[in-house]
Amino acid sequence: MKQTILITRKFFPELMNQIENDYNVIIWEKESPPDKQWVLDHLASADGIITMLTDIIDDQVISNGAAHHLKVISQMAVGFDNIDIQTATRHQIAIGNTPGVLTETTADFTWALLMALARQVVNSNNEVHQGIWRSWGPEVFAGADVFGKNLGIIGYGRIGQAVARRAVGFGMKVLVFVRNAKNQDSLPRVEFCDFDNLLQQSDFVSLHANLNSSSQGLIGKKQLQLMKPTAFLINTARGAMIDHNALHDSLIKHQLAGAALDVFDPEPIPLDHPLLKLHNVIITPHIASASLATRRRMAEMTIKNVIAGIEGKPLPYCVNPEIYGS
Ligand code: DGY
Repeated sequence: MKQTILITRKFFPELMNQIENDYNVIIWEKESPPDKQWVLDHLASADGIITMLTDIIDDQVISNGAAHHLKVISQMAVGFDNIDIQTATRHQIAIGNTPGVLTETTADFTWALLMALARQVVNSNNEVHQGIWRSWGPEVFAGADVFGKNLGIIGYGRIGQAVARRAVGFGMKVLVFVRNAKNQDSLPRVEFCDFDNLLQQSDFVSLHANLNSSSQGLIGKKQLQLMKPTAFLINTARGAMIDHNALHDSLIKHQLAGAALDVFDPEPIPLDHPLLKLHNVIITPHIASASLATRRRMAEMTIKNVIAGIEGKPLPYCVNPEIYGS
């Protein structure tokens, strides 16, 4: 009898065809995330589940799957803060993710946000599209330079390092804060420093840490007050690292020059959120890894993981390898 894979979002059709030959597939057809009840209702038949970072895979979902025959949760993302890893590990359910393949794409997008923020790309483009062409003038859309400035990087895993490489190419000095500095890079112009120093000295601060109990709410009122009034904040990691009310407050008091947010908490951002009214804020809908080639590579890894899991083999990209013992 064919095993069953539950998929919480529409997938690349050619990849779907591959798995549909060998497995039963149950798919959530809408573009928005499935409601939890849909997941719970279908778990009884699932051997594996392909999840997105927007899905809440909590204790209830995992325990329910474990009570039937769920063997693997394969997440199409590198981040997995939406999954209760401890519960899954306790139930010997393997969790897969997609590390590595989205590093450069996410770093490119971080760079796009940083440049757009510094040089008013979005505001000036919006005006031209509205039929307003301001004549060339000494201060018209005059933004901030990027070359020669200090970039503060918080979190120095693969993506943080890829952003640092770009910054060095732009003649920036890079300041890095990382809690556990074991994977230090030997790039010239990259300096490790403490958190407060990084905030005080940086002209751009970019977040690249994982979301966990120590990074939740990392940037609040106190941290924003340490930043230069000419500085910009960029977040392509997870929204919950920033207190967005405090950010709004800093921006309207001109304690900070601007922010670019690809992630929010919650997602989607509430339509009445006051940050949406500010012209020095760029907000994009969690698309930093969204190049077609990268999304396809992520999908392929996700499929490899789910198939390995339901076939009872170790996942090639596993978040909780301890379930396999030593
Ligand atoms: C991830 O994979 O965790 C990224 O946030 C996707 O864009």
